[in-house]
Amino acid sequence: MNNLISLELVRMLKKARKITVLTGAGTSAESGVPTFRDAQEGIWAHYDPQELATTQAFRRNPRLVWEWYEWRRNRIRAATPNPGHYALAQMASLVKNLTLITQNVDGLHQLAGSRDVIELHGNILRNKCFKEKNIVDTWTENGSVPPRCPECGDFLRPDVVWFGETLPGEALKLALQASASCDVFLSAGTSTIVEPAASLPFLALRSGACVVEINPVPTPLTMSATYVLSGYSGEIIPHLINHVWGETIRYQ
Ligand code: OAD
Repeated sequence: MNNLISLELVRMLKKARKITVLTGAGTSAESGVPTFRDAQEGIWAHYDPQELATTQAFRRNPRLVWEWYEWRRNRIRAATPNPGHYALAQMASLVKNLTLITQNVDGLHQLAGSRDVIELHGNILRNKCFKEKNIVDTWTENGSVPPRCPECGDFLRPDVVWFGETLPGEALKLALQASASCDVFLSAGTSTIVEPAASLPFLALRSGACVVEINPVPTPLTMSATYVLSGYSGEIIPHLINHVWGETIRYQ
């Protein structure tokens, strides 16, 4: 794999003062969490997002949507971080300033030790009130599916961004700032299709950053990326840690 990482890229990463990383579902694939758009295993190859991941779908059939998210949550609760997650957590201790932005809702970066993760699409393990949007941690089980908000009695829903909804404002603001002000931008395991996250690497490019894509499959970013590391994030990111900074991966 050494051939994959040019000397120029090694130098660029070594001298970078500010690295911004954007991750997508591919970075959790090696933890057994399915991606969305992969042809065979992807979630959207088997389920219709319009029936499960919109406010209209929840209004139509809240029980179905809640139970589908419970099923996904159970898979995610059983998953553990992979070497790519640990390598990114370690990278933060090797670089002066590292910002980790994720589209993933599984919390695996945090489990691997990453701090201050910018969650663009929310977190599937949190819930909020459908009506008031406030986060709800505890409620009384009374047989209602979905459970009810203890404050207003409306349904609870997972704290994830559904199609047609806007992203959490503060998270998006921080992500835009970090993308426009980094020396190196790493885009790992994302199809670079879903906006506004898909625009972040292009913003970084326009702002003068070197953009590195890590993905086994070409995406709309591939032609524009400064470097393309074609392969799995769980192999390539640990390799970068080793090759660029001379460290071996610590599994916490
Ligand atoms: P996608 O499923 O669209 O893309 C996953 C990408 O990961 C693909 O380009 C794969 O080639 C790549 N990939 C697969 N395995 C990999 C591996 N081991 N290492 C590196 N790359 C790998 O997932 P996202 O781009 O994250 O939104 O999708 C963006 C958003 O669309 C998601 O956050 C979700 C979805 O609808 C919401 O839930 C709001």
